[in-house]
Amino acid sequence: MIEEAAKLLARSRFAIAFTGAGISAESGVPTFRGFNGLWKRYRPEELATPEAFRRDPYLVWSFYKWRMDLIRKARPNRAHYALAELEKMDILKAVITQNVDDLHRGAGTRNLIELHGNIFRVRCTSCDYRENLKESGRMGEFLQDKELPKCPKCGSLLRPDVVWFGEPLPRKELEEAFKLAERADLILVIGTSGVVYPAAYIPQIVKETGGKVIEINPEESGITPIADVFLRCPAGEAMEKLMDRIGRLL
Ligand code: APR
Ligand code: ZN
Repeated sequence: MIEEAAKLLARSRFAIAFTGAGISAESGVPTFRGFNGLWKRYRPEELATPEAFRRDPYLVWSFYKWRMDLIRKARPNRAHYALAELEKMDILKAVITQNVDDLHRGAGTRNLIELHGNIFRVRCTSCDYRENLKESGRMGEFLQDKELPKCPKCGSLLRPDVVWFGEPLPRKELEEAFKLAERADLILVIGTSGVVYPAAYIPQIVKETGGKVIEINPEESGITPIADVFLRCPAGEAMEKLMDRIGRLL
């Protein structure tokens, strides 16, 4: 199976990767659907929605500050690094991620499309103000502040710049992802349950346009039925083996 995946990747002309929470599991970032009860017994569907934020912005902000703090301490793992390496080798042309954790960027991936936003960015609920707390160096101060975060431009409430359940995806990113999927002759799908749309269309587009689908996941997912090669394995281990085989093929 690994051999077959390595051959497909090495021979591909335009390969892309599509990742979900599972790729960051080995970095200590909890996945969504494996997450129940991890934070005050709430399910993500009860916290990551515009309704929850309207009802109780304090609760939603405490959840996001908890995640921000957890994620800023997390480091990329060997699967993130392997994808960055495949890009350097000019095998992988882009990484499309549903993750908001910034770990692909941390590992050195350059052509990165973040479909669901980024946990370190905040934006105003009324005006066009946006801030990346990693870049502005205000993260420590932000996490310590017990008040609800307010926009420095207009005083309205700030919100996390991530996509919540029921919200549209950023248009530019989604268009770009669909374009890449149409062009790709191979997609490496890692650590996603493949049940959240429209993101889950991306591997389907590759398949329908004649491309190959390689999936890495310790469990079956919504993508498994269309996978040409299914590596039932945690991401780090699978990517390490895959990189080793590719190295020997080239
Ligand atoms: N390696 C690879 N895959 C793993 C690992 C691992 N070590 N551990 C778990 N997985 C797999 C699980 O089997 C599951 O299929 O990762 C997947 C995680 O699924 P979800 O938690 O549903 O995450 P994801 O698919 O990224 O969710 C999509 O839903 O909650 C929204 O916006 C949120 O971006 C998120 C989207
Ligand atoms: Zn504002």
